[in-house]
Amino acid sequence: MATLTLAGIRKSYGDVETLHGIDLSIADGEFIVFVGPSGCGKSTLLRTICGLEDISAGDLHIGERRVNDIAPAQRGIAMVFQSYALYPHMSVFENMAFGLKLAGHDKTAARDAVLRAAQILCIEPLLERKPKELSGGQRQRVAIGRAIVRKPDVFLFDEPLSNLDASLRVQMRIELANLHRELGATMIYVTHDQVEAMTLADRIVVLNAGRIEQVGAPLALYHQPDNLFVAGFMGSPRMNFFKGRVQASSPAGMTLAVGERALLESTSSRNLPVGAAVTIGARPEHITLGDNPDGIPARIHAIEHLGDVSYLYVMVAGSDEPLVVRCAPEQDWQVDQQTALTITPTRLHVFDADGKACR
Ligand SMILES: Nc1ncnc2c1ncn2[C@@H]1O[C@H](COP(=O)(O)OP(=O)(O)O)[C@@H](O)[C@H]1O
Ligand SMILES: [Mg+2]
Repeated sequence: MATLTLAGIRKSYGDVETLHGIDLSIADGEFIVFVGPSGCGKSTLLRTICGLEDISAGDLHIGERRVNDIAPAQRGIAMVFQSYALYPHMSVFENMAFGLKLAGHDKTAARDAVLRAAQILCIEPLLERKPKELSGGQRQRVAIGRAIVRKPDVFLFDEPLSNLDASLRVQMRIELANLHRELGATMIYVTHDQVEAMTLADRIVVLNAGRIEQVGAPLALYHQPDNLFVAGFMGSPRMNFFKGRVQASSPAGMTLAVGERALLESTSSRNLPVGAAVTIGARPEHITLGDNPDGIPARIHAIEHLGDVSYLYVMVAGSDEPLVVRCAPEQDWQVDQQTALTITPTRLHVFDADGKACR
């Protein structure tokens, strides 16, 4: 097991810098998820940790050891890729034992390690098969098994579930969480899927264009995003945003004007000057619809019934696109119906002109 410390990590390809100084400390045994849109640098960061890419500037420590110039095989790391990368001509057993054989482990020890990993991953009946005789989920288990047998201090996963269908992804997600609990190893997991990030991580690192936007526990990021990017990225359907203006400001919070006459109360303690333009954020589950003379006038634009829940798309002044509101399925709404929306002050998010959260 091991801690990791990234200090000022930069990565350039030629003249183009992809990572712009990443600072991060990862605790022993932590499950860390890097999440962010495609192209933000998640894989690049993982590959610099692994040693598949050299580091242009900064220091990487695994445990006490600075590993910038240490070969990948000597870093105590195992990486699992989206593409599985199994040897097609070898059986499952041989695929899992191959790395140990190369590292000079004796046959009995290698066999014991493979059988133990196969047991953890429930792939014992598949050991004699070739990769082409396996489903996608089984292949990914073999790839994970190949990592486990090496007993690494740190596991790195790069979108390992992206090639699986939705129901298998859910199942493998639960298995990975259990695997982490069982092995107690440090794990770093890359995904663009914020649901995977929310469900697996001890802490999530949100990346955007080669920089860290925020690091925190899943629910902390969800409820206290530092900025518009994180607020919009975490959560599905995503947080609603609309324009407002500071009407009044006191130690207890701010009163925000939306459109011609509607007012919203915020309990933010960082107050902006009266007249300042703000972006207001509210999650679909924190908006209530109903006849309320003090609410923001709204018109129902579309309705989606998902069975357990209904999503209403409503138009309000101050927003160019409809806001999404989560409603109980039994409520009876009609398209074009006029209503009003209210938001609990403690659930309201306020962002300044630079997109920074006022809390
Ligand atoms: N070998 C490479 N040479 C040049 N540019 C690269 C290379 N690998 C990645 N990049 C660039 O670095 C950026 C981040 O890529 P990547 O880390 O793969 O993103 P992600 O995994 O978040 O989708 C992208 O703009 C990509 O084009
Ligand atoms: Mg990637």
